[in-house]
Amino acid sequence: MRTQVGIIGAGPAGLVLSHLLHLQGVESVVLENRSRQYCEERVRAGVLEQGTVDLLCETGVGERLKKEGLVHGGIELRFGGKGHRIDFRELTGGKTITIYGQSEVLKDLTNARLAAGGQIYFEVDDVSVHNFDGNEPKVLFTRNANPEELTCDFIAGCDGFHGICRPAVAKALTIYEREYPFGWLGILAEAPPSSEELIYAYHERGFALLSMRSPQLSRLYIQCAPDEDIQQWPDEKIWRELHKRLESTEGWKLIEGPVIQKGVSGMRSFVTEPMQYKNLFLAGDAAHIVPPTGAKGLNLAVADVRVLAQAITEFYKSGSRDQLNRYSEICLRRVWKVQRFSWWMTSMLHLFPDASAFDQKRQRAELDYVTSSRAAAESLAENYVGLPMA
Ligand code: APR
Ligand code: PHB
Repeated sequence: MRTQVGIIGAGPAGLVLSHLLHLQGVESVVLENRSRQYCEERVRAGVLEQGTVDLLCETGVGERLKKEGLVHGGIELRFGGKGHRIDFRELTGGKTITIYGQSEVLKDLTNARLAAGGQIYFEVDDVSVHNFDGNEPKVLFTRNANPEELTCDFIAGCDGFHGICRPAVAKALTIYEREYPFGWLGILAEAPPSSEELIYAYHERGFALLSMRSPQLSRLYIQCAPDEDIQQWPDEKIWRELHKRLESTEGWKLIEGPVIQKGVSGMRSFVTEPMQYKNLFLAGDAAHIVPPTGAKGLNLAVADVRVLAQAITEFYKSGSRDQLNRYSEICLRRVWKVQRFSWWMTSMLHLFPDASAFDQKRQRAELDYVTSSRAAAESLAENYVGLPMA
């Protein structure tokens, strides 16, 4: 099998890349080791920046997003039992975010790719990448237990944090990382969201977040130990803790409902430099991880592949490798700014086990400053709705 771009992974990075290349007349083949159903049912992120929404709509895969996405003009920061709204529209000249589950984005992209005759192979195994430092990169894999070979001009490693592409070029990479001394216990509940917009709560018992997926589905998180045992958290205990951490003195009530999914995830900041080696390019979680507090993971993956699609298209149109050679440099400028914002939101809103009384007072002062200074609130807002795409 031969194509122009071999893409490993059918997450947001891989599918958006395949879609953007297709619109520029560049062929690609996507290889995914999970089933389509698994990819489309995996509960993951759900906040889309203005730029991500614009890109999906401009490229013809935003119809359902426009119909079913929940547009939010702000978020609430809650501490000391009081809510403080950060008004995105007012602070960013009208920009907003849209709540639309990652799984819905993947469904729309997969449908669009397949409808356009795109090649996406789910449930492949033993994927390995070769010759990416030569002229004819190739990907070996098995499909229905048959060994297959895909030759291509470029390999896009969109296979996430635990994929095979980054390790394949590890010797050429420098890793920057930070682990956090806590994780998130998240639930998906059949409860109408108790708030119009997201609530980020700082509480002496730990962080909590109220988010949603639809008018019927709430998504909620509480700060927990990085290796918290979910078996120790029966649903009623989770709700009890949410009530405490989201407590409000302003007559607000948290609505409960059946918990249909729950899990614990660790938190880290991770960047690899560069994000390319010869003809292999890393994008999304394969190259960087942000803690979820800034809701940036999916949006950063889309920002990467937007640059990569432009660079690859430029190569096929003009033969110039200029943009390709500058792919990492272009992406990393934005990646580090987004890393800074995600670290800052995490540091401001979570309880650090070793935090001194001074640190806790300083955190409160940070929250007080952000919610009482226009300049500080504007900075949060412009980062949250999305920094300009490169
Ligand atoms: N072979 C083929 N596919 C693989 C392999 C492999 N060896 N390893 C992983 N994959 C697939 C995974 O099953 C997954 O579908 O690669 C895909 C990677 O997708 P994501 O992990 O979603 O990564 P990315 O596309 O970069 O999107 C990152 O999505 O899930 C959010 O929070 C995450 O925000 C982040 C964003
Ligand atoms: C989510 O809806 O899952 C979500 C929202 C905001 C975050 C992280 C996750 O910061």
